[in-house]
Amino acid sequence: MASQTAKDILGQEVANYGVLFVKLHNYHWYVSGPHFFTYHEKLEELYNLVAVLYDEAAERLLMHGGKPAATMKEYLEMATVQEGDATLSTKEMIDDVITDFRNISKEMKTAIESFTDEDDTIEDTLVGHLEQLEKEIWMLESTIEK
Ligand SMILES: [Fe+2]
Repeated sequence: MASQTAKDILGQEVANYGVLFVKLHNYHWYVSGPHFFTYHEKLEELYNLVAVLYDEAAERLLMHGGKPAATMKEYLEMATVQEGDATLSTKEMIDDVITDFRNISKEMKTAIESFTDEDDTIEDTLVGHLEQLEKEIWMLESTIEK
């Protein structure tokens, strides 16, 4: 039996990815300025990535007898990620996404520290997500003007 900590973090990340999916569309649509095409395309790539992570987290939770939340109402109540703000500047939007990816990574890393042997496959799923988020953080940070 997977530990409650492992199931809880999967449930938490389902909610976070649910909110992030909408937020990334928000920024994909409303980003503006000279680098519009670069960020418009990158944000599309990111919402597609998040859609995959979202589904993986939910299905991994179902495999372990958990019940992922599946409504926006629950996601907004549960998520640690805040909704997007279309009035932000391009840099603020990208900084916001980096912050979300960092916070989600931190939550997963903290939870993994108290995992048991029974949580191995959940840990593998989360480590896979960490690898992808880490790469995106690096690329986004390399893109924004300092
Ligand atoms: Fe689009």
